[in-house]
Amino acid sequence: MPFDDALHTLTLSDDGSYTAYSKEYDEHYHSTKDGALKESLQKHVIPAFELIKKDEVNILDICYGLGFNTLATILYYRQNRPQTKLNIYSPELDASLVKSLQYFTYPKEFEVLREIIISLSREGFYRDEQLFIELFLGDAREYVAKFEDFFDIVYQDAFSPSTNPVLWTKEYFADIAKAMKKEGVLTTYSTAFRTRLALYENGFHIYLNKGEGYRSATLASQTQLPNAAAVDMEHKIACNPDMQSLRD
Ligand SMILES: C[S@@+](CC[C@H](N)C(=O)[O-])C[C@H]1O[C@@H](n2cnc3c(N)ncnc32)[C@H](O)[C@@H]1O
Repeated sequence: MPFDDALHTLTLSDDGSYTAYSKEYDEHYHSTKDGALKESLQKHVIPAFELIKKDEVNILDICYGLGFNTLATILYYRQNRPQTKLNIYSPELDASLVKSLQYFTYPKEFEVLREIIISLSREGFYRDEQLFIELFLGDAREYVAKFEDFFDIVYQDAFSPSTNPVLWTKEYFADIAKAMKKEGVLTTYSTAFRTRLALYENGFHIYLNKGEGYRSATLASQTQLPNAAAVDMEHKIACNPDMQSLRD
């Protein structure tokens, strides 16, 4: 069965991995210029991996979509820190998308994860000695509100603030802040001032994630990160006095 349906089209991205275009949101699931796999690794998985060094790591993947962040995380930890126990929690509103992922054309790197891909697509769940993965087929806002002081890592990878504003508001990030451990790290592709402001207003320190071959992104934590490139939010606020964060 092909992956393409009335709402999604398969799109080849510039790193050779396929992503999808959503007709409903009129947006791609990943940056087609950075590439789906590369974006997932450079903007989410690697920066978080380098900052959080624990035997057991709790991850919130907002939102599951095509599952790249969850799958790339499993692969990267297996290759670089195989003893770590990973618990991944991921909400996704689109249940029919999740069902169709067993037919998605994933990069060859994910071939070793075939059993996990099938289980997540069919059951929304996977567990083995090293891994616990739960997909919540429903609203991320409702899901996040259930957690307190729990997540070490949050991948903030919703559709863009202009397309899906409810997952970028000050109130939404208040729930995220509560759900995270104080020393936890949030990663996002968004560098929009309004996104950073909504995080800052909830006590996050804001950092630039910049590197070779991908567009800059953002890191945030409620604890200061000594070796990261801090964004001077007070200066930016002074330069943009009329700018407001998104609100519910
Ligand atoms: C940019 S995509 C996520 C890409 C994903 N991280 C990946 O690696 O493929 C955004 C996803 O958010 C989902 N979504 C939109 N609003 C949502 C909500 N309120 N709760 C849960 N999921 C939502 C969409 O169905 C879509 O699959």
